[in-house]
Amino acid sequence: MTNNNMIFIANWKMHGNLKDISKVNLVLKFINQKKFKKNKVIYCPPYTLLNTFNHKFKNTKILIGAQNCHDHADYGPFTGSISTKLIRNSGAKFVILGHSENRTEGETDHIINKKITSALNNNLKVIFCVGESLREKRKKITSNVLRRQISKGLNKIKSFKNIIIAYEPVWSIGTGIVPKQYEIEKNIQTIKKTISRLKKKSNTKILYGGSVNPNNASEISKIRELDGFLIGGASLNPKKFIDIIKKSSN
Ligand code: PGA
Repeated sequence: MTNNNMIFIANWKMHGNLKDISKVNLVLKFINQKKFKKNKVIYCPPYTLLNTFNHKFKNTKILIGAQNCHDHADYGPFTGSISTKLIRNSGAKFVILGHSENRTEGETDHIINKKITSALNNNLKVIFCVGESLREKRKKITSNVLRRQISKGLNKIKSFKNIIIAYEPVWSIGTGIVPKQYEIEKNIQTIKKTISRLKKKSNTKILYGGSVNPNNASEISKIRELDGFLIGGASLNPKKFIDIIKKSSN
């Protein structure tokens, strides 16, 4: 069922120059016009734009997030790295962690767990990405992969209140290929069951990410128990991003 509580997260990845900032004006106007709830649209630009976005979205309904962090929670001698403490200081309220593009660069479940711990300790909300690769899907081990990623990633995390899970099949990211509705439903169920095994009373929100666009948003948003989208490529285009929001929230 489509609804007005859907969350839309724009993951700009390694895109976005100062001149691109005006692109978000249209989105801002749309969100303000419509009786849109606060905190349902979150922009995650590269680190270099966090502060600028923070000023731009001050007193608006849009929040901002970072796309990754170092696993050391504090300040320290880590050239080129950004800690959750620095992210928090930029005005961001969220951080995307466990994205497959970082997992393939060598990020392990253990490192992701350290990053999640650090983010929560610094009062950031975590958008925790999980999902199977094409190889894992073909080997029919998707459920095992999801269970492993979640239980290791959330190991020793006391409360899941500030965690949102994004189910992102790796083979769907940036490919234009989207899983069948029943596949998404089944994998959301696995995620839900794993979460409730770890914490009985958790009401963790689950998003879908992977080639979401204006043509498929309406269909995917009908999936029961889906709370929103993590959107890469299409979020760079304000018209497409607005279209996705429109098609999924009525
Ligand atoms: P995509 O990316 O929408 O371009 O497939 C999604 C993501 O990687 O978060």
